[in-house]
Amino acid sequence: MILVTGGAGFIGANFVLDWAAQQGEAVVNLDKLTYAGNLETLASLDDNPKHVFVQGDIGDSALLDRLLAEHKPRAIVNFAAESHVDRSIHGPEDFVQTNVLGTFRLLESVRGYWSALPADQKAAFRFLHVSTDEVYGSLSATDPAFTEENKYEPNSPYSASKAASDHLVRAWHHTYGLPVLTTNCSNNYGPFHFPEKLIPLMIVNALAGKPLPVYGDGMQVRDWLYVKDHCSAIRRVLEAGRLGETYNVGGWNEKPNIEIVNTVCALLDELRPRADGKSYREQISYVTDRPGHDRRYAIDARKLERELGWKPAETFDTGIRKTVEWYLANGEWVANVQSGAYREWVQKQYEAAPAKAAA
Ligand code: NAD
Ligand code: DAU
Repeated sequence: MILVTGGAGFIGANFVLDWAAQQGEAVVNLDKLTYAGNLETLASLDDNPKHVFVQGDIGDSALLDRLLAEHKPRAIVNFAAESHVDRSIHGPEDFVQTNVLGTFRLLESVRGYWSALPADQKAAFRFLHVSTDEVYGSLSATDPAFTEENKYEPNSPYSASKAASDHLVRAWHHTYGLPVLTTNCSNNYGPFHFPEKLIPLMIVNALAGKPLPVYGDGMQVRDWLYVKDHCSAIRRVLEAGRLGETYNVGGWNEKPNIEIVNTVCALLDELRPRADGKSYREQISYVTDRPGHDRRYAIDARKLERELGWKPAETFDTGIRKTVEWYLANGEWVANVQSGAYREWVQKQYEAAPAKAAA
C-alpha cells in the first residue's frame, strides 16, 4: 500500500491511473479537491477496491495520523501543492499554506509513523517529494541546463514555496533520518491538464475561437516532458533512488513558448480545421508579460539516466500529438471543467455518500 497526496490533480491522477493499471498494489489517494482536483479524472477507478480516495488536507495532522495508522503505507508520494505560477502572483497565501505548512505537517506525521515502524519496515519506507525545476531560478540563453548541483534561486511565490518545501524534506532526512527522495521535474503536458496552463489553455481557447494569449515576446523557454514519462521517472526513483538524493527529471525538449503555440495551432489545423479555412495562428494575441517571468528553464536529467536507467518514452512530437488528440477526444472533460460541473462529482461521489469518503 502506498499513500499518494494530490492524486486528483494533473500529474498525481496520471500517476494513480498508471499505478492502478501496472502495479497491482493498493493506493490511498489523499486530496483536498481544490479547484485543481478533479474526481472525474479518476472515474475509471470508481469500482476499483485498490484505490481508496480520501478528501482531505495534507495540513490536517489528525487526519494524516489516522490514515497512516489505518493503512500502514510503505511509501508516500507527495504531489499535493498549489501549482500555478500566475495564481501565486495574485494570491500567494494558499501557496505558503499548502506547499510550506502542509508539507511540514505531512513530514511531521510521517516522521511519527515511520519512527514507530519495526526495523525492517522502517528501513524499506520511502517519502518521495515531487518538486519542480523552477526552484533553480532562471537561465540565460547560454547557461548549461540545471543539474542537481545548481543552487536554489526561486523567483516566484510558487517556486519559493516549493523551494521551502524541498528544504524541509532535506532537513527531515538530515536531522531525523527520514528516508526521503526528491524529484525536480520540468514542465509537464498531457491528458487531464487543467486548462489554465499554457498547452491546454491554447488548445481549449483555439477550439472556442478565443484569443491565444502569449505573454511578453513569447521567447521564454520551457523544457517539456510528457506527463506519463514524469510518472515513470517517479516510479523508478521510488524503487531505486538513493536516500536523501535529488533527481532532476526532463526530456531535453527546450522550446520557446511561441513555438509551442504554433505547434498546437498546426496540429489543430490538421486535425480539426477551422470552418473558415484559416489557421488557428490568427488567434494568437501578445499580451502583457507575467511579472518576474523566468526567461529559460532547462533540465539536465543525466543523473537519473545514469544511476537509475530512466529514459522518457515520448519525444515532444509524439507527446504533443497525443495531447492534442486527447483534448479533441475528451471535450466533455474540458466542458465540465469550464462549466464547473466537475465539482459536482465531489458531491455525487462523496458528499452524497459520506461513507465512501470517510477517512
Ligand atoms: P495540480 O494543481 O494539477 O494538482 C494539485 C493537486 O493537489 C490537486 O488535486 C489539489 O486538489 C491537491 N491539493 C492542493 N492543496 C492540497 C492540500 N492542502 N492537501 C491535499 N491536496 C491538495 O498540480 P500538478 O501540475 O499535478 O502538480 C503536482 C505536483 O508536481 C506539484 O507538487 C507541483 O509542484 C509538481 N510539479 C508540477 C509540474 C507541472 O508541470 N505541472 C512540473 C514539476 C513539478
Ligand atoms: O517548470 C515546471 C513548472 O511548470 C511547474 O512547477 C508548475 O507547477 C507548472 O505550472 C509549470 O509552470 P509554468 O509557469 O512554466 O507553466 P505555465 O503553463 O503557466 O506557463 C508556461 C509558459 O507559458 C510560461 O513561460 C508562461 C507562458 N504562458 C502561460 C500562460 C498560461 C503564456 O505565454 N500564456 C499563458 O496564457
